[in-house]
This record gives sequence, C-alpha cells and structure tokens, in this order.
Amino acid sequence: MTQSPPPAAISLTNARRIYGSGETEMVALNGVDLDIAPGRFVSVIGPSGCGKSTLLRLIAGLEQPDDGAVSVYGVTPEVACSAKMVGLVPQAPALLPWLNVLQNVSLPHKINKGADKKRPAAAQAIETASGMSEIPDMKELLRLAGLGEAMHKLPAELSGGMQQRTAIVRAFGLRPDVMLLDEPFSALDEFTRESLQEQLLDLWDEMKSTVVFVTHSVSEAVRLSDTVIVMAPNPGRIVDVIDIELARPRSASMIKTAAFHQYEDLIRESLQNAWRSPETQNAA
Ligand SMILES: Nc1ncnc2c1ncn2[C@@H]1O[C@H](COP(=O)(O)OP(=O)(O)O)[C@@H](O)[C@H]1O
Ligand SMILES: [Mg+2]
Repeated sequence: MTQSPPPAAISLTNARRIYGSGETEMVALNGVDLDIAPGRFVSVIGPSGCGKSTLLRLIAGLEQPDDGAVSVYGVTPEVACSAKMVGLVPQAPALLPWLNVLQNVSLPHKINKGADKKRPAAAQAIETASGMSEIPDMKELLRLAGLGEAMHKLPAELSGGMQQRTAIVRAFGLRPDVMLLDEPFSALDEFTRESLQEQLLDLWDEMKSTVVFVTHSVSEAVRLSDTVIVMAPNPGRIVDVIDIELARPRSASMIKTAAFHQYEDLIRESLQNAWRSPETQNAA
C-alpha cells in the first residue's frame, strides 16, 4: 500500500502579484513555485524590492495572488489564519506599551480562545504527534528566550533586542504551524543578533513550527536554515534554492568552518547574479 505524502506546510504554485497598473505597474512576484515541508526552517534572502515581504504577506493571507495559488497545510491562507495556524513577526515589534512583557505575550490567548477547533486535520495530527497540543506555558517560553527577569517590565523599559524577543515569544505562544518572520533582527547589533539567533533556534526546536525567515544577512541565513531561498527583482522571483546540509545544533564555532564558508560563498554568488539579472531581463 502506498501512502500519499503529507501536504506541504506551505505551497505556492505559479504565484504572481502585481501592484499598480499601466505606467506604474510593478510585478512584485512572478511565477513563484515553492513547496516547504512541515518543520523546515527556510530563509529568504535577496536585494531590497525583490518581493520578500510580499511573499510573506501572501502566505499570511494579508494579500491574495493575482494569479496562481497559495496554500497552508492544504487550505487557503485565510482559513489557516482564522484557525491561528500562522504567526507573523514584523520588522518592528508592535507591543502594547501599557502592558508588561508577560501580559503582552499572553494577550493572543485571551483573544483567540476556541481557534484550535478549526485547525485542519493534517496540522492537528502533527501537533498530537509532537505532543504540542497544550497551550504553552508563557512564563517558560519567556525564560527560554532569556526574558525570565523582564516578565513584569513594560516595553519602554526594554532594549530593542528584548522587545524583539518579546514579539517572537508572543507569536510562538499560539503554537503556529507556520511562523513568518520579516527581517526581525535587522535593526539589532551583531552581538544581540547572534544571541537572538540561538534563542530563535531553541524556540523552533521546542515548538516544531515551519519557519520562513526573511533576512539580509548571508551568515544568518546559513546558520539558521535547512534551506535558503535566493530571490531577484524586476520581476520579483526565486532564482535559487540551496539546502544547507550542516549538522545541528549549530554552534557559534561552526561559523568559522570551511563548510560554513562554502555555503556563504554559494549564496553570495547567487545574490550577485540576482543583482545582475535585471539588465539581462531588460535586454531580453
Ligand atoms: N502596497 C504596495 N503598493 C505598491 N507597490 C508595492 C506595495 N508593496 C510593495 N510594493 C513594491 O513591490 C516590490 C516588492 O516589495 P517588497 O515585497 O516589500 O520587497 P522586499 O521585502 O523584498 O524589499 C517593491 O518594488 C515595492 O516597491
Ligand atoms: Mg521587505
């Protein structure tokens, strides 16, 4: 007896997204085909304006493709979102300033009681198998993210890195099957960034979510990912999909190894081609 493969956590088929019309028409995404298996950590990298945020908005159901299809565990992004299967962390952490850290991360549970019942069977089966069907202990998640001491502080009393960690814990707190992060660490210094990378990996390990992580940093993409997707602009599209076959956990010392550098070089090369490609496109 042959078993049908489990549905992709995220699937895009020939997805196209256009902004404006006529003179101002802008093809933000064109012909995007992508299948991401459950539990993968996937990074998206590419020059500014190549459609990375648009891609996340399509998966989050905040926008619809003009052509092609997008699905999350075999259902539309809208259905997935109303079942609270999708978490989104934007570039700037949007915390409520009058609530402390613990209250901020606990808020989604208060608003979303009962959302679980609507989850498609495929997502529920994965949760049951991974033992993640309980609401996570938010205090424990905060401790895991290094915020144990900051639980009762207000956002204004936190550093930028701590605010961003709070936003990430809040998004993971709903146990989203799919977690979308749009350049969450781009405003942070190198040192803070590295410690957040580790905490993000710990949370991912704990929550078993499928992650799509947008970044500008090549080394960050290699360190974190199972797969790196390289995009190019005009029109926004995927030009390369590179699997990172490095063992986990990936320690800070792994960044210095030859294998790690080889992956960085491969992605840099691909990005350079992505920069050159608009001319090629115009000449065609
Ligand atoms: N709401 C919008 N209206 C018009 N153009 C947009 C809109 N959102 C994005 N764009 C354009 O679409 C392209 C892709 O944008 P975006 O997805 O934000 O790229 P990235 O995140 O890779 O920098 C850019 O040229 C951008 O200017
Ligand atoms: Mg963007």
